[in-house]
Amino acid sequence: MAGKKIEFVRGDVRDFNHLTGTLVQSRCDAVIHFAGLKSVGASVEHPLDYYDNNVVGACNLLRAMQQASVQNLVFSSSATVYGRPQYLPITESHPLSTENPYGQTKLMIENILRDVSQSDSAWRIAILRYFNPCGAHASGLIGEDPQGIPNNLVPFISQVAVGRRSHVCVLGNDYDTPDGTGVRDYIHVVDLANGHIKALDYLEENLGCNAFNVGTGTGYSVLEVINAFSKAANRQVPYTFTERRKGDVAICFADTSLAEKQLDWKAKFDLNTMCTDHWNWQSRNPKGYS
Ligand code: UD1
Repeated sequence: MAGKKIEFVRGDVRDFNHLTGTLVQSRCDAVIHFAGLKSVGASVEHPLDYYDNNVVGACNLLRAMQQASVQNLVFSSSATVYGRPQYLPITESHPLSTENPYGQTKLMIENILRDVSQSDSAWRIAILRYFNPCGAHASGLIGEDPQGIPNNLVPFISQVAVGRRSHVCVLGNDYDTPDGTGVRDYIHVVDLANGHIKALDYLEENLGCNAFNVGTGTGYSVLEVINAFSKAANRQVPYTFTERRKGDVAICFADTSLAEKQLDWKAKFDLNTMCTDHWNWQSRNPKGYS
């Protein structure tokens, strides 16, 4: 897809020597830190795994970067750091709070990044707060294949559409939203990827530590997503209504004006394209990567 060979080194983000050696040898200019665990439920059951991998891993990476004199960083954060929305659309200055260990790790890392940036003005850090990524590359060559039961809506719908699961459980239909189901800001993973490229460009010109929302600014309900996916897959995806999930909010969507202005980035793809591309990958890989 890239038209060139990409070097791959397998390692653990908590292995300081390996990380430092790799950064020095690759003579890289910047790091994009994606190596995070992201299941809210698993983080409640196994908090230490989350603090260890996410927080200890991030500290280790920052030390390794310092050692290798690489001080440009793009960090994958999450809209989870906003907690329960106090107003919509959510801007970057919305108060920060979290309700579970996963969210704590993201917020702790953000705070660490702000402190590190304060301590040494040579750091250039972009924090990207992802809303709800989904979809796949249009080639159908790369897609999302969660291990075990998918936590997130679109991978779950996709596994129902391909016949691996019987139906989608819609987690609550009594929210204060137009159709009663939860509303989220879904964003195509290719738009998200392009946001990272724009963030790297931004770091070339800007010092300090700055956070940006990465969403489309538009909210869709669970039923709207199921309907769009059913259309893309050309089959009705069955669903039933069940209880609300603990901790879920009714509506969450981003104000994306800061990223538009400062990163010169705006999402291009709509919900239908997200579903079409997600389905393209899933239908070519009905059993995922196994
Ligand atoms: C979730 C996490 C968030 C994390 C993000 C990672 C929670 C409370 N939030 O976001 O912290 O950063 O994943 O990608 O877990 N839904 C169903 N049926 C399902 C799954 C989801 O109806 O089987 C509904 C949910 O109630 C919600 C919407 O679909 O309204 C989106 O859910 P999900 O994909 O899990 O994302 P978030 O909850 O927004």
